[in-house]
Amino acid sequence: VSSTLDITQEELSDHEVEVGPRDGLQNEEVIVPTDIKIELINRLSKTGLPAIEVTSFVSSKWVPQMADHKEVMRGIERHPGVQYPVLTPNLQGFNSAIAAGATEVSVFGAASDSFSRVNINCSIEKSIDKFEEVAKAARNMNIPVRGYVSCALGCPYEGNITPAKVAEVSKRLYNLGCYEVSLGDTIGVGTPGSMKRMLEAVMKEIPLNALAVHCHDTYGQALANILTAIQMGVAVVDSSVAGLGGCPYARGATGNVATEDVIYMLNGLGISTGVNLYTVMEAGNFICTALNKKTNSKVAQASFNIRTVN
Ligand code: HMG
Ligand code: MG
Repeated sequence: VSSTLDITQEELSDHEVEVGPRDGLQNEEVIVPTDIKIELINRLSKTGLPAIEVTSFVSSKWVPQMADHKEVMRGIERHPGVQYPVLTPNLQGFNSAIAAGATEVSVFGAASDSFSRVNINCSIEKSIDKFEEVAKAARNMNIPVRGYVSCALGCPYEGNITPAKVAEVSKRLYNLGCYEVSLGDTIGVGTPGSMKRMLEAVMKEIPLNALAVHCHDTYGQALANILTAIQMGVAVVDSSVAGLGGCPYARGATGNVATEDVIYMLNGLGISTGVNLYTVMEAGNFICTALNKKTNSKVAQASFNIRTVN
């Protein structure tokens, strides 16, 4: 299929990974009550989203916002056909996640050594060893492992990151057993130009159908960057309800691209997602009310304003 936008996916469908309950709520100053997190995830489960990242099995001293990981994992209602991945930086996190009932995990590396050290307290090299341990344990239990590469389009400490470095780390994650590698623009500095150059390098190393993009919207480029990735054949997009998100170890970085805005764009492109935009907006409204903040989704803002005017 080819359109004027040069979208050449054989079937025009797209797979969304909702990261709001994890990436979104890890970055809120207040610690969101466990029952609110569970309610958010249960609402998102009914929207048609195929994957919802639930929480992180990381140190509660480092990220207190995710300290209730076990309770959240055990409290949610799981829907058939929906995956519920969780972040696990090491074997300790993996074992706790499995004990709490996780059936998919994600390791999270970086293309910047400085960011790796600040975020997970070890070099890229050392992190790969830890991820290998996780992948080995996961393989024995038939647990799928997803991998993140943070700082794929820039680093808060090192600035520019070369596409070659992103490609190298992506390949290592893929080779150690990650079925999918999500390329994170952690601080949202990328543009369609840098996204294209980075993807060209990564696509030489790992198959296109094993790639996802994870765009924060700090510089307002996320939708343009995602469109670029889709035009290049990437079919998996991470996003966060109401555009919540950020990383405690990347100060100043704002939320992920809003799920509502991605779905709206994909609907307009005729790319099917199976996601009900209205119910995602309702889930967004629920969490924004609980957090007492305004949604970052332009689509949700516009829909609300238009409803109010009418
Ligand atoms: P460490 O201190 O180097 O670990 O932390 P350690 O192995 O030396 O152990 C020290 C202590 O941590 C011990 O406890 C361990 O039990 C504990 P103590 O004896 O002092 O009481 N520990 C753990 N506790 C719970 N869960 C674990 C675990 N491992 C050790 N898995 C660690 C290493 C990775 C745990 C730490 O640095 C950490 O928790 N970092 C937080 C990382 C994080 O969550 N960052 C945000 C998510 S990443 C992100 O947002 C980017 C992404 O969205 C993509 C993008 O946007 O680019 C994914
Ligand atoms: Mg992120």
